[in-house]
Formats: sequence, C-alpha cells, structure tokens
Amino acid sequence: MGRVFGYRAACRGVMLAWCSVLFACAGDSGPSADSQQAASQAQQLLSSGSRADGKALYQACAACHGAQAEGNRALGAPSLRNQQHWYLRRQLDQYRAGQRGSHPKDSYGQQMQAIAKTLPDDAAVEAVVSYIAGLGNKPAPATLTGDAKRGADYYSNLCGACHGPNAEGLELLQAPALAGVDDWYLRRQFTHFRDGLRGADQGDKYGYQMAMMAGSLPDEAVLDDVLVYIQSLAD
Ligand code: HEC
Ligand code: HEC
Repeated sequence: MGRVFGYRAACRGVMLAWCSVLFACAGDSGPSADSQQAASQAQQLLSSGSRADGKALYQACAACHGAQAEGNRALGAPSLRNQQHWYLRRQLDQYRAGQRGSHPKDSYGQQMQAIAKTLPDDAAVEAVVSYIAGLGNKPAPATLTGDAKRGADYYSNLCGACHGPNAEGLELLQAPALAGVDDWYLRRQFTHFRDGLRGADQGDKYGYQMAMMAGSLPDEAVLDDVLVYIQSLAD
C-alpha cells in the first residue's frame, strides 16, 4: 500500500509541476486574488448604486478597467476607450444574457459576466456605456512585436471586410473596432474564439461569425503580425 501511495503521490507531484509550467508558459492563469477582491467590491457598489448615474456606476468598473477606462493588464481587464458605444452595449447585454463568459474555461469572461449581471437594469447599462463612450478615444499602448507588413497582407485579405480598412469597426456587420484596443486582450479573445471558449453559445450569432473566422490564420506568429499591424492603425 505504502509503495503504491508513494508512487501515486510522486506522479501527482510531477503532474502538478507540469501544470504550473503550462500555465506559466501560457501566461494566462486566470483572475488573480486581487481581481477577485475587486470583483466582489464592484458587485457590492453596483447593488447599492444609483441606476441612472453613469459616472457613479463606473466607479465599480474603475477598480479593474482603470479610472479613465484605460485597462489593467495585471487584472486581465482591457481598455474600453477605443470601443464604440454600440459594441460595449451589446457585449454587456450578452454577458448579462449568459451568451458570453459561460464557458467553464473562460475564467475572465465568467468574472465579467458576474459583474455585468449585477448592473440593475437596462437604464444602468445604457448610463455606464454612455459615460465610457464620453471619455473619448485614447489608443492603448502596443505591447507585441511582429512583422507589420506581413500582418497587413493577412489583415486586408481576411479581416478588413468586416472590421473596416483601418480596423475602425463596422456597425453594419457588428464587427468592433480593433485599432487602439489592448493587443494582449485581442490576442486572448482571438484564441478564445479559435478554441471555442467564446462564440460557441447558441444565442451568440455575432460571436459565432467571428469564431468561424478565427481558424483562418495559420499560426500564432501570423496572429502577432496581424495584431502589430492593427496597432499601427490606431489614432
Ligand atoms: C473584477 C474586475 C472587473 C470589473 C470590476 C469590471 N470588469 Fe469589465 N472586464 C473584466 C475582464 C477581466 C474582462 C475581459 C473578459 C473576457 O475575457 O471575456 C472585461 C471585459 C469587459 C468588456 C468587454 C470588452 C470587449 O472589448 O469585448 C466590457 C464592455 C466591460 N468589461 C465593461 C465593464 C463595465 C461597464 C464594468 C462596470 C460595471 C466592468 N466592466 C467592471 C474585468 C472587470
Ligand atoms: C465575417 C466578419 C468578420 C471577419 C472576416 C473577421 N471578424 Fe473579427 N469579429 C467579427 C464580429 C461580428 C465580432 C464581434 C463578436 C462578438 O460580438 O462576440 C468580431 C470580434 C473580433 C475580436 C474580439 C474583439 C473584442 O474587443 O473583444 C477580435 C480580436 C477579432 N474579431 C479579430 C479578427 C481578426 C484578426 C480577423 C482576421 C483574421 C477577423 N476578426 C475577421 C466579425 C469578423
């Protein structure tokens, strides 16, 4: 018995070591203790806050997305500054409906879904989105390296028709702006679409469209090239 136990314990040790190596390499181990604390504070604030005061509601978002909605990489929360009103609104509605952030492996999405569901009603969603949109555009800093020229070719062939020639977003197709949005965040979302963590819910028809496209890039290096090109379009 003792020997078997010892062997099993050793195996488990090796597997745990492997898991931590894998997580360390992915650099994306999910929400930290800090962000979980911010989440519960945000939910408390939202459930006691005023429904129609966007500025007051935004205080609950600031803990993660930053005082000026500039984003916070350590917490996995993206900048919201370069995103259009209609897209922010639809994403909050989709989190609230459980169409985004329900996949068991999408821990960041789950966290944001819980917060969106604490927004009391549609008027509160509208008020907080109007407040964010009113902060104006401010491109997030570029953090990736790659071949922008190669990225430009892929972008114009595979992405531009929906996201617009300057990655400015196209409301008609419900494809959001990508230029000026945090590149590390876009990278995570792209791989989530590709791996079925986002866009797989039955009610998520726009996410489904994007998920169909996410298989079109050959590898991660090309994805970086495309994202570097997209960031060069930001203003
Ligand atoms: C505890 C931290 C936290 C708080 C508080 C928080 N968020 Fe988020 N938010 C996140 C994370 C993490 C993501 C990325 C989720 C994902 O990967 O799906 C996100 C994503 C979003 C997105 C999607 C952006 C996009 O480009 O797709 C919107 C919109 C958003 N948040 C709005 C808000 C609003 C409005 C509030 C306040 C009511 C808020 N968030 C509060 C952490 C937070
Ligand atoms: C058929 C139209 C279409 C094409 C082509 C397309 N997209 Fe999208 N994309 C969308 C739509 C629609 C969404 C919004 C999905 C949602 O609402 O969840 C989206 C969302 C995204 C997002 C998430 C943005 C965010 O803020 O969360 C990324 C990243 C993205 N697309 C990258 C790309 C890249 C890179 C390409 C080219 C390889 C591309 N897309 C091609 C329609 C398209």
